[in-house]
Amino acid sequence: MKRENICILGGTGFVGGHLIHRLCETYASIRVVTRHREQHRNLLVHHQVSLVEGDIHDEKQLDNLLDGYDVVINLVGILNPAGKNSGFRKIHVDLAKKVVTACNNVGVRHLLHMSALNAGSANAISQYLRTKGEGENNTHLQAGPRLQVTSFRPSIIFGEGDHLFNRFASMLRLPMVAVPLACPEARFAPIYAQDVAEVFAQSILNPETYSKRFNLCGPREYTLMELMEFTEQCIGVRRLIVGLSNSLSRLQARILGKLPGKLLTLDNYRTMRSDSVCQEPCPSLFQLELATLESIVPHYLGRRSQQVRYMDYRKGAKR
Ligand SMILES: NC(=O)c1ccc[n+]([C@@H]2O[C@H](COP(=O)([O-])OP(=O)(O)OC[C@H]3O[C@@H](n4cnc5c(N)ncnc54)[C@H](OP(=O)(O)O)[C@@H]3O)[C@@H](O)[C@H]2O)c1
Repeated sequence: MKRENICILGGTGFVGGHLIHRLCETYASIRVVTRHREQHRNLLVHHQVSLVEGDIHDEKQLDNLLDGYDVVINLVGILNPAGKNSGFRKIHVDLAKKVVTACNNVGVRHLLHMSALNAGSANAISQYLRTKGEGENNTHLQAGPRLQVTSFRPSIIFGEGDHLFNRFASMLRLPMVAVPLACPEARFAPIYAQDVAEVFAQSILNPETYSKRFNLCGPREYTLMELMEFTEQCIGVRRLIVGLSNSLSRLQARILGKLPGKLLTLDNYRTMRSDSVCQEPCPSLFQLELATLESIVPHYLGRRSQQVRYMDYRKGAKR
């Protein structure tokens, strides 16, 4: 077991679950900070994990929470704003700044920052991508002399507990004859959550990854329509999937964004206006064989249990 102490912010979500599972193979001490400790006690199955409740927006508390840690991972991010302390700017820009400042203050050695593909690019027109880009740039610019920063910019991430295929599956299971799909031509290169976790784990050990930013994509590109049709096959239902034109996609986002649950918002629609694909799938600096959708997704979408299991299906786990 490695000696480095690791502290994860935003570690209780989808990506965090997979990352913690991977880091527990290598590290003896992982602190996970959350706003709601009781809701995430399941993470304590790993004896290496300590789960701490705290307000990371409070600079003093943040200094105390990160004090004594060598490596900090910031996974906090939102797709849609929700309530106090949860606007795009507050989370992706202001909070990211507080995190890098706290890392400088308490002598953290390495900050791994989770951004998103297309963040800050010239044609990124959504608040999500603009603020993600600003937060990523500031994190690199504000790192002090002792702090190394590495940023990761993934396309959409899949794996047990994901936000894409599970949502598609729920929609397709509704007793509807036709399912209207916004932005059917939008392109993605989905990457497996455990491959993302592996990249983070390797980055901690590899100084060549310091001060760099990495786009992360899976091995193949798909349109959103292809991803929806693939979900249909995985769960064994047949629906008429109707790809909407650009103006109808916009209208659908406008309506759904006002409804509870916000299945799709105008900002999500704007994010999908930029294809989420890479020039090369995953930088060769990282040693890993990227998993395909086809080899992973059917295992978890076909299961009845709603409980998330962080197993790597490539390693021959039983269903
Ligand atoms: N999922 C993807 O396909 C994808 C693709 C590209 C980039 N990313 C990025 O990857 C990161 C992780 O994504 P994810 O899918 O794991 O997200 P997630 O499941 O929604 O988890 C986000 C985490 O952020 C924390 N959080 C949310 N709002 C917060 C707030 N107002 N204050 C403090 N903490 C807050 C939550 O922690 P607590 O509730 O425990 O406090 C939660 O654990 C994000 O930065 C996201 O933008 C994800």
